[in-house]
Amino acid sequence: MIPGKMRVIDEQRVCVLDGEWSPTSVIREIVEEGIQEDPFYVMDLGEVVERYRQWTEYMPRVEPFYAVKCNDDKLLVRTLAALGTGFDCASRAEIQLVTDIGVKPERIIFANPAKMASHIRYATAVGVTTMTFDSETELHKIKQYSPDAQLVIRIRCDAAAAQCPLGIKFGCEPLVEAPRLLKLAAVMSLSVVGVSFHVGSGARECAVYARGIQLARGLFELGDSLGLHMRLLDIGGGFAGDSASDLRQVSQVINAALESKFADREVRVIAEPGRYFAAAAYTLAAMIHASREVHAYRHADILISFFFQTTLVLCPPWAVLKDLWPLSEASIQVETRPSGPQSRGASPTPTPTPPHSPTPMHTVFVECALK
Ligand SMILES: Cc1ncc(COP(=O)(O)O)c(C=O)c1O
Repeated sequence: MIPGKMRVIDEQRVCVLDGEWSPTSVIREIVEEGIQEDPFYVMDLGEVVERYRQWTEYMPRVEPFYAVKCNDDKLLVRTLAALGTGFDCASRAEIQLVTDIGVKPERIIFANPAKMASHIRYATAVGVTTMTFDSETELHKIKQYSPDAQLVIRIRCDAAAAQCPLGIKFGCEPLVEAPRLLKLAAVMSLSVVGVSFHVGSGARECAVYARGIQLARGLFELGDSLGLHMRLLDIGGGFAGDSASDLRQVSQVINAALESKFADREVRVIAEPGRYFAAAAYTLAAMIHASREVHAYRHADILISFFFQTTLVLCPPWAVLKDLWPLSEASIQVETRPSGPQSRGASPTPTPTPPHSPTPMHTVFVECALK
């Protein structure tokens, strides 16, 4: 049992779990206590640590800059800062969140190609000067509010299929428009230092990263000829975040493309993974408070409804994290808990009986990437 009453509260409470357990077993204990009615997340910090380890093993040349927009939970951000990632921020609020915990501006890229003028001013004032652009308008804005910025041109490079394609929204056409923008930036005496792309979230094609890296190489050469000092390659996000996903296959494509296109020059390579770090780490539990069975042909669909007021219970491998800045036991309430009965990684289907219910009800468990 988790000590100190099971009702999940808004403050971030870290439980250090010894022995065998799983997010599901933790959820079961909370629900079986009988006083938790509102939906809540269980966050497994161990998953975040393991994913960071895998990233550095499979792609040692690529520095992850966590995309804060994916989930700005402070404990996740603090943990990633402690592990050593950089951050992709898309707004003033995200920059503030990350700098407030002490992350240096050099570890932040303002990776929004359509920024509000006031946000550019704020970023510049706090020292965040690496930022993306994909249009002439953005160049003029940056010239006015951050003339010494280190610019990264974002090109369009879409995966053949993706859960959430981003190319419709952002990224300039790479073969005609991007060269034109690079020339304009040079004429405006702006400093373009690199190229970025995002293949789309939940990308279902690995080869797209090789295409993006190849396009970037061409623009690096054009930049050289324009007198720009190109030195940053940003391969964006798109990395799968579900617990069954494997980084190995995509990392092989990326490593091979980097070796083939960027072995001969000093280039810092970064990426902007969001879901990769945030999705599998969170498990949402929500009590169904009403349901109706709908019989259609041979199928029976269950319509469910539940509230989304969410809170967190957190379960990390604390020994790995607790001495890493900016985490500390002082800043997070930590509790220890004895071994649970179920093994970590096992996913038994729980059938708890929620409180205040005269008839048996069911609880859904949802893997969730986004708040
Ligand atoms: C610029 C940018 N970088 C990174 C991400 C994170 O993408 P993913 O969750 O696919 O890793 C997004 C998602 O919208 C994005 O727009």
